[in-house]
Amino acid sequence: MHRRQFVLGAMGAGLSAGSTSALAQAAAKECSRAAIPYGAAIRVDLLRDDQEYRRAVLGNCQLVVGEGGLKWIDLRPEPGKFHFDHPDRLLAFADANGMRMRGHTLAWYAAMPKWTEAISTKAEAERVLYEHIDTVVGRYKGRIPSWDVVNEAISDNPAVEAPMRKSIWQDLIGTQHVELALRRTAAVDPNAQLVLNDFGFENPTEQCRAKRAAFLRLVRDLKDRDAPLHAIGLQGHLPGEKDIDKDGISSFVAELHGMGLSILVTELDVIDDKLPRDRAIRDDIVASRVRAFLQAVGDVCRPEAVLTWGISDRFTWVPIWFRRKDGEPNRPLPLDANYRPKPMMRVIREFTRAKL
Ligand code: G3I
Repeated sequence: MHRRQFVLGAMGAGLSAGSTSALAQAAAKECSRAAIPYGAAIRVDLLRDDQEYRRAVLGNCQLVVGEGGLKWIDLRPEPGKFHFDHPDRLLAFADANGMRMRGHTLAWYAAMPKWTEAISTKAEAERVLYEHIDTVVGRYKGRIPSWDVVNEAISDNPAVEAPMRKSIWQDLIGTQHVELALRRTAAVDPNAQLVLNDFGFENPTEQCRAKRAAFLRLVRDLKDRDAPLHAIGLQGHLPGEKDIDKDGISSFVAELHGMGLSILVTELDVIDDKLPRDRAIRDDIVASRVRAFLQAVGDVCRPEAVLTWGISDRFTWVPIWFRRKDGEPNRPLPLDANYRPKPMMRVIREFTRAKL
């Protein structure tokens, strides 16, 4: 069997790039029963320094992804040298504990080191991107089975701005950078699952509709060109105060699935800065948003994996951008700051367990 088809162990049911819709339907049947691996974005230093954190990861996760570590700014803070310490440590942890590790991410607009600002030509941009993919994917070939090759390629609001997000790659290479990155990654590790990862699809707003449409146009074009794209990562940073557009998500997932693509939920959490102060009420709203989102995806095809972006409210990116004005700590994740499961964790456990 091709590695891509059991990319996350026996737990997933991925499809190859050339899947027919009959195969897609068969996979939908298959994945409607199998248990879905759950995982979280990890800060690798905490695995060493915080034993409760380590226990929480060991006790709950079948998958890990570095919250950082494989980003350009972490790997290549200066030109000419790669720093692999963090991803090496996370992979060793995963291997030692029977988990799989996802790779995040090869081409992104953000977390770029200062020195890359001096890159000014298409040829130079292609050269450093290829050098990056060759070195990083080559190092972990056969060990990191699934890569977010391009992250957040679509702009925040394609209804009012250009559909492709500005980045060093988009500015110098153009939209073709997505295809080039996919093809290069496939050439280095032909068995890896290649993923486009993005956010902002889930609400009943013009902005989300425009984002879904722009994303579908990009994906259709890649499939028409027979680019090696195998799965879509729905990040799922859900704004807590907004309804989930269940029909919008389901038809979006159906379109993607119909193109033979697997679906992964890659960065789930609920941004709770605008939710009520009361913790119990807030936790219930958070859980209900997660339930609605997962159901909307799962009604079409159960995702191949569900990962949250962090595991405990003690360590989350959310207050960097969405700190609550009332001084209450954010509560976006499945475990509270003392590692106790919240209603969100019960929703995830219910959703991911095998269906009889
Ligand atoms: O490591 C330094 C530390 O040495 C320093 O003392 C500290 C002071 O601010 O900063 C630390 O670096 C921070 C790093 O996270 C590690 O915690 C950076 O400032 C901060 O910008 C960085 O933010 C990360 C962000 O991506 C940018 O890379 C967040 O943790 C991470 O959760 C976030 O993750 C993104 C996904 O990759 C893509 N999707 C959205 C998601 C959330 O924004």
